[in-house]
Amino acid sequence: MNRAALVTGGTRGIGAAISSALQSAGYKVAANYNNNDEAAEIFRNETGIFTCKWDVSDFNACTLGVKKVQDECGPVDILVNNAGITRDTVLHKMDVRQWSEVIKTNLDSVFNMTRTVIEGMRERQFGRIVSISSVNGQKGQIGQANYAAAKAGLIGFIKTVAQENARKGITANVIAPGYILTDMLQTIPRDLIEKKILPQIPADRLGKTEEIARCVVFLVSEESGWITGSTMSINGGQSMI
Ligand code: CAA
Repeated sequence: MNRAALVTGGTRGIGAAISSALQSAGYKVAANYNNNDEAAEIFRNETGIFTCKWDVSDFNACTLGVKKVQDECGPVDILVNNAGITRDTVLHKMDVRQWSEVIKTNLDSVFNMTRTVIEGMRERQFGRIVSISSVNGQKGQIGQANYAAAKAGLIGFIKTVAQENARKGITANVIAPGYILTDMLQTIPRDLIEKKILPQIPADRLGKTEEIARCVVFLVSEESGWITGSTMSINGGQSMI
């Protein structure tokens, strides 16, 4: 299979698992990242996956970044919008910077990247777009007004992209993970996880990155062409919406 897949935030955490799973499924994968050069280098050495550094919250950087990826891997037929950050604090303590950093990185990025690849997908009459949302975008979460707003916002965006492009062989779907064992969870105090979060999860454990990645592989396959505009909740039963 020659199709190229681009994963934003694709060198660590859930993104790294997605990049690796797509590579194992036979795709040519490019993994974008923005900050952690060391992690990207380790990932590149371990997997041989092409890595490319740019800030997905910057539209012009996305244009240049996608061009580099296309030069290396060919036209981007599969886009996984995974890059995301948290700046958790309750609303009455949140400043404008904490709000806008999260909105830019987690929501503007989804526009920036999807807008950059959509015309090529339409011309080629094929595309698979998967955006990673969150259980907290579906249900809200103490300390995450910024994150929940961005993760809910992208669901409306993707449903629109799905409708506008369905006749062009393009699908657009959302995966909403619950609490997954990644570096992002390190920002939450351990006893909060044990006392407040785990009791909300019927499966009584955190998720694994691979449990998200396998769903991405399923959604981007040729055979999944009739699945579009959907939101898949993968959260151990924490929220069933
Ligand atoms: N679930 C349930 N209750 C929570 C909670 C959570 N995730 N987070 C905070 N609370 C509760 C606290 O237990 C506390 O309740 P009590 O007063 O009854 O003890 C109350 O909310 C206030 O919390 P803190 O005392 O911790 O207040 P703080 O101002 O020191 O910190 C906070 C607030 C920054 C929000 C901190 O509590 C925190 O980091 N919470 C975790 C928020 C969270 O779940 N983030 C998800 C990160 S992972 C992710 O984003 C990936 C994903 O998609 C799921």
